[in-house]
Amino acid sequence: MTTPSSKVRSLLRPLEPASKAQTATPPAYGQYPRVRMRRNRADEWTRRLVAENRLSVEDMIWPVFVHEGGKVETVPSMPGVSRLTVAAAVEAVGTAGELGIPAVAIFPVIPVDRKTPTAEEACDPANLCNSAVRAIKKAVPDVGIICDVALDPYTSHGHDGVMEGQRILNDETVEILCRQALAQAEAGVDIVAPSDMMDGRIGRIRDALDAAGRDDVRILSYAAKYASGFYGPFRDAVGSKSNLGQGDKRTYQMDPANGDEALRECALDVAEGADMLMVKPGLPYLDILYRVKQAFALPTFAYQVSGEYAMIKAAAERGWLDGERVMMESLLAFKRAGADGVLTYFAVDAARRLKAG
Ligand code: PBG
Repeated sequence: MTTPSSKVRSLLRPLEPASKAQTATPPAYGQYPRVRMRRNRADEWTRRLVAENRLSVEDMIWPVFVHEGGKVETVPSMPGVSRLTVAAAVEAVGTAGELGIPAVAIFPVIPVDRKTPTAEEACDPANLCNSAVRAIKKAVPDVGIICDVALDPYTSHGHDGVMEGQRILNDETVEILCRQALAQAEAGVDIVAPSDMMDGRIGRIRDALDAAGRDDVRILSYAAKYASGFYGPFRDAVGSKSNLGQGDKRTYQMDPANGDEALRECALDVAEGADMLMVKPGLPYLDILYRVKQAFALPTFAYQVSGEYAMIKAAAERGWLDGERVMMESLLAFKRAGADGVLTYFAVDAARRLKAG
């Protein structure tokens, strides 16, 4: 039995209370008129010189939707995003890799007639998600592949877990998630990303992977995932909205009112063996992202979710915002808050923009 080192123990608790960090008074730096803040902003070259954060292509994770149909389909509520065929996804991930994007996240669109109350399809080694992973890994081995571990694409009721009456069953769901993760690992996924918010799933998935000899597969935990209205367009894209109907996910995803609870969720997942943490949604939860990064110092990612993307796209289409400028500004904001990277539907556009300089 090994006890965690003091280094690890210190990572398991907040370095300093966030409230203290937020209210600390800065030391006196001097006063106007001797001090003129605008001096450092006067020229483009000084602004570059003093910039504290920089966005780079290495910060991007690109979510990709894959379906079984023979044609690429646009997603109306996510302009510029499509449901790709497996062949188109292979090509798109190749392009992303050439641009320098380190990793992609694959989201399958499952035909309605394959969805069941207990999500059998999720654990099928030959399902769409796993076939896509195999094809992409074979063609583009150097791009990291992330897959969601959650049942919602596969359940007829659209929930992330299995149900008894109106209740989502935790432990029964975790068993299925372990099988889903194993099938993904077998297909060649590099990172499994449990997004289901069941209790205890990180540890169980870690154990299941290790027992299968897959201690190389990383776990990116959607540790602080909120019950958010910002997921609407994603549910259109994967077709889970009609399955979910009036249902909501408030009995397992977090209450947007809570911040301390996110730290507890993260602490548990870190203790259970998460390699990386995620906060989701992104911009409305930058305070959580900041606190999580400060508290655990783990690789921490933000998910700029579908609704955030749709808002920027819709306003840009109407000419109400400069879409490209707001895209880059929003991504930089994640860096400033402490993100090591961002899952964003803008990844390819932002990578192109960064390359153009
Ligand atoms: C499924 C899942 C969701 C998202 C990622 N994985 C939706 C949900 O929890 O209902 C949302 C991503 C987005 O909105 O872009 N567990």
